[in-house]
Amino acid sequence: MKIRSADFVMSNSNVINAPKERIPEYAFIGRSNVGKSSLINMLMERKDLAKISGKPGKTQLINHFKINEEWFLVDLPGYGYAQISKKKRTIFEYFIENYFKEREQLVCTFVLIDSRHDPQKIDIEFMQFLGDNQIPFCLVFTKADKLGSSKLNKQITAYKKILLDSWETLPMTFLTSSSTGLGRKEFLEFIDGVNQDVAKDFK
Ligand code: GTP
Ligand code: MG
Repeated sequence: MKIRSADFVMSNSNVINAPKERIPEYAFIGRSNVGKSSLINMLMERKDLAKISGKPGKTQLINHFKINEEWFLVDLPGYGYAQISKKKRTIFEYFIENYFKEREQLVCTFVLIDSRHDPQKIDIEFMQFLGDNQIPFCLVFTKADKLGSSKLNKQITAYKKILLDSWETLPMTFLTSSSTGLGRKEFLEFIDGVNQDVAKDFK
């Protein structure tokens, strides 16, 4: 898929204020600092469409971007950021959870995992939450440039093995690097395919 336009639409802390337009929507979620905003910029070939930071906790709202005038990309705050106050974290979790439960346009969620990390309880639990709410998701292993290929393969194989303890089938997976552009083509092809599959539901 060729990206002809990528425009920031709005930021919200409550899903009820999100754009009303009925077009397919894709959300990016995962631990703070995993590379959600960087991946959006890499996919769109834009440096600062989504705001990035070396410090966790950069993205704090639900951010809608409209792509090719046809579909939405959504950059979400990360979960599991220990540095924020408990009260703020509860509000965060509430609005993220609400976003997933309420957003009817959402056709696929990308759950991002840092390739270097072993499976973490918070990610496994989040996938469980998506499963319990019948929300389709794909797994995205990020920062692939940070590991050599044999270590990378080992990490991913081990990750999938753990998932098979609780899932009968594995979700679709992508391997990406926002530094090298690895995975961009496959990612955009996937979205293009889903857009075509769901087109009839959005007429
Ligand atoms: P929050 O908004 O805080 O939840 O973080 P995020 O998941 O949006 O992460 P963000 O894209 O802001 O990136 C966090 C840090 O990781 C930044 O310093 C990025 O430059 C770095 N980073 C992200 N993706 C990659 C990658 O593929 N490779 C490398 N080497 N660094 C990356
Ligand atoms: Mg971010």
